[in-house]
Amino acid sequence: MDLSRQGSAVRADLAEPLERAKEATSTASRAAEIKERCRQLAQITDIPGQTTRSFLSPAMRRCMGTVQSWMEAAQMSITIDAAGNLRGLYPGSRPDALRLVVGSHLDTVPNAGAFDGVLGVLLGLALVESLEGQRLSFAIELIAFSEEEGVRFGVPFIGSRAVTGQIDRELLSTQDAEGISVRQAMLDFGLDPERLPEATLDRAAAAYLEFHIEQGPALESEDRSLGVVDCIAGQTRGEVIFTGASNHAGTTPMRLRRDALAAAAEWIAAVERLARNEEGLVATVGRIEVHPGAENVIAGEAQASLDVRHADDAMRRSAVERLIAATESIARARSLEARWCLQMDQVAVAMDAQLSQMAVDAIRGIGLQPLRMMSGAGHDAMIIASRLPSAMIFLRSPGGISHHPDESVRIEDVANALNAGLGFLRGFHKVIIGAHA
Ligand code: GLV
Ligand code: MN
Ligand code: MN
Repeated sequence: MDLSRQGSAVRADLAEPLERAKEATSTASRAAEIKERCRQLAQITDIPGQTTRSFLSPAMRRCMGTVQSWMEAAQMSITIDAAGNLRGLYPGSRPDALRLVVGSHLDTVPNAGAFDGVLGVLLGLALVESLEGQRLSFAIELIAFSEEEGVRFGVPFIGSRAVTGQIDRELLSTQDAEGISVRQAMLDFGLDPERLPEATLDRAAAAYLEFHIEQGPALESEDRSLGVVDCIAGQTRGEVIFTGASNHAGTTPMRLRRDALAAAAEWIAAVERLARNEEGLVATVGRIEVHPGAENVIAGEAQASLDVRHADDAMRRSAVERLIAATESIARARSLEARWCLQMDQVAVAMDAQLSQMAVDAIRGIGLQPLRMMSGAGHDAMIIASRLPSAMIFLRSPGGISHHPDESVRIEDVANALNAGLGFLRGFHKVIIGAHA
């Protein structure tokens, strides 16, 4: 982490207010409140009876309104950028103070749990609340990202891409299932896509911290409360479209069929086989659409999604190439056509060593031993890391369950994360002081 390019002077006045803040904080009750707020936001949904909140949807607007009111109560000044990211600024003790950015996302997968993304936002908010109005020698910007999951447009990280200046024309013209483009969705939400350049982080932003549930079983199996992420696995996302011929299910002999769904089924089994045989590789077909989609009609078209991840980019890309080759050979053998559309090729990203060490020290400072780990899940931190030194603190996921309504978190782990976060703020202060000594 190199802060020497940053220009503001800071004073060594942080340690004392933070000690006071820590003393004044009843961490256990704050942790219970964080969990309760996550549950409250989980009620805000586009589909009643579930937690489903997609990018720039009506439920997202209501969710942002609630989080905004909490941010304002914590003395943060609010902006909503052109990508719909909700941003709260808690100023430092001087106008030219450097900024620690803390964030995670508010969108969800369909029928989600209550904690993926939201917990990170609310832990950041609780850190600011714990300061009880005291100004630090650096500012804190809390960003509740509008889009991370990639559900609506098939492209994830739209919020953090906006903040790092990575939204191009192609992305703006990408369409959702209703044929609405990203650009149109922004306009419909009352946002101005022409103002996207203003969403990018400025030079005062110095580092990024994200809290997130682990979403896997590693912390629980090691009996640890918290982890620190060393690296986030790279991801490929795309779609395969098999095109055959629709025909009558009762009259078309088996040898004359060009069944797109049968081809897709063969390929999905090949995807699973490949991933099972490669150490560290995970590959998922999580969505399939079949046309025309009737019991007595042979499928003329099948569209299947693909999500492939590995910590080693070369291994991931080689697996994707083999899976594309498999679509072609399956299609050839069945006299079909197969088309592959790449939606995302995100390289694996290392977290910043120095900032991660600060997270480790902060966790050790509260008497815990963090697990150093790789994240198989994608996070906003992997996009922000292209612009800022970034670190992630993981909280144990009970049962390793995530992307599911049973997703949970233990209150004591939330309390530990909050206390470690306060320790992190102290460590961050020392680094900034050192950079300007
Ligand atoms: C985000 O949750 C992802 O890793 O898919
Ligand atoms: Mn998720
Ligand atoms: Mn997430």
